[in-house]
Amino acid sequence: MPVDFEVQSTLHVGIIMDGNGRWATGRGLPRIMGHRAGVEAARRAVEAAPDAGIGILTLFAFSSDNWRRAPAEVDALMRLMAVYLENETTGCAARGVRLEVIGRRDRLDAKLCSAIAQAEAATAAGHRLWLRLAVDYSARDAILAAARGLRELSRDALERAMGPPVDLLIRTGGERRLSDFQLWESAYAELVFTPTMWPDFDASALAAAVREFRGRERRFGSVPQVPVYRQQAWLD
Ligand code: IPE
Ligand code: IPE
Ligand code: MG
Repeated sequence: MPVDFEVQSTLHVGIIMDGNGRWATGRGLPRIMGHRAGVEAARRAVEAAPDAGIGILTLFAFSSDNWRRAPAEVDALMRLMAVYLENETTGCAARGVRLEVIGRRDRLDAKLCSAIAQAEAATAAGHRLWLRLAVDYSARDAILAAARGLRELSRDALERAMGPPVDLLIRTGGERRLSDFQLWESAYAELVFTPTMWPDFDASALAAAVREFRGRERRFGSVPQVPVYRQQAWLD
């Protein structure tokens, strides 16, 4: 019997934006310059996403484990994220981008918290692209928090409490690991790892990753879809 494949109306792409530090040090620059270039790459990816057929874009900006970095780098990242949100809010609202920040808020400074609240409120009506920025985010903590919020723990209830499933997960910077990003949501994500450092990742690289995704066969535990006439031939 032909298999009824799940039809995705919106493509959810998650990106682990890695390699800013190496991009900078490779050029004899301080790591923070890599983060600045990384912000530009994020801006480009958000702009290119709708044309690449992406409906939901989840960008990993700062992991809960990134607090382990030197305070000066952490401070710079926090400032950059606040400036990014302040600068991008108007453009996102105009382009129909709904911006949401996922992750813990209680360890972020007041300036970043208010930039987040402002950006989320100003872009709430956007329906062209749902942009989710993961800040102080840990997938393990997100699963725990969602489970704790349930009255009764079941797989369906937890599924509903988590974010949308990731279709395509891209990691730049050459590492082949998930580093605590979207662990539940990526159960059947297609993985694309690229050696390109995040600041060099552009619209054509994003389009190429989506093309690679389109060429993959997703089976969700089932078997390849077989045309009906072939099945008949086997039966004869
Ligand atoms: C990704 O780039 C940005 C963050 C994790 C905040 P990195 O800063 O991890 O860059 P590399 O991996 O050291 O090159
Ligand atoms: C993952 O990158 C987090 C972000 C891209 C924000 P890391 O550079 O922190 O991951 P590891 O330490 O190499 O696993
Ligand atoms: Mg890294």
